Amino acid sequence: MDTKIDEIAERIYRFSRYVPDIAAPAGFTFNHYLVDAEEPLLFHCGPRRLFPEVSAALATILPIERLRWIGFGHVEADECGAMNLWLAAAPAAKVVHGHTACLVSLDDMADRPPRALDDGEVLDIGGRHMRYLDTPHVPHAWESGLLYEESTGTLFCGDLFTQLGRGPAVTATSIVEAAIAAETAFRATALTPATAPTLRRLAALRPRRLAVMHGSCFEGDCASELEALAAFYERALADATTGA
Ligand SMILES: [Fe+2]
Ligand SMILES: [Fe+2]
Repeated sequence: MDTKIDEIAERIYRFSRYVPDIAAPAGFTFNHYLVDAEEPLLFHCGPRRLFPEVSAALATILPIERLRWIGFGHVEADECGAMNLWLAAAPAAKVVHGHTACLVSLDDMADRPPRALDDGEVLDIGGRHMRYLDTPHVPHAWESGLLYEESTGTLFCGDLFTQLGRGPAVTATSIVEAAIAAETAFRATALTPATAPTLRRLAALRPRRLAVMHGSCFEGDCASELEALAAFYERALADATTGA
């Protein structure tokens, strides 16, 4: 199996698939997370083509039928391409997202009705508490939102801090410069007046760990990482506005 499995916090598992052809020669990783609790939650479905191996990786930790919640950041193939494959494999599972995502896309696209959460609402999954945060247009897509697991201080931050290459599962070395390099290569983030304030709102959570979708997770002073990324986008917006 090409999917690497790491326990990045107590009973939080990262299933990482390295794809060398994307952003070659560095390559690119796609990370999916399992929060193992009484009602296990998957964050990031992955694209349909990776479902066979990501689901096989998850099955080494718990039976897929035990999954109860399926979350992701926004509507894109790597976030939710395999959503309905997971729903079929896990009959008790429900997609969970913000009201915008449900109203605009998921009420129609998901094979079973999703559960819509308010901004700031906490989903108790039995032993873990997942706080949902609306982050419209951050990093992109109107319906964007993230989950924060409160007891371990793990922010599932999706495309934020995207990095190229295949680093360690978790690093204590700052990932800001690598994230800026990837942003410079991809221009994936919507640069709006809300970008920096949204990142600062996430910094105020004072997470202990950033669980990223592409690249290494970070453990340490996450507030400083988020503040530094916010400052980068603030400068970029100012430069764009003044034509610098
Ligand atoms: Fe995305
Ligand atoms: Fe992504």
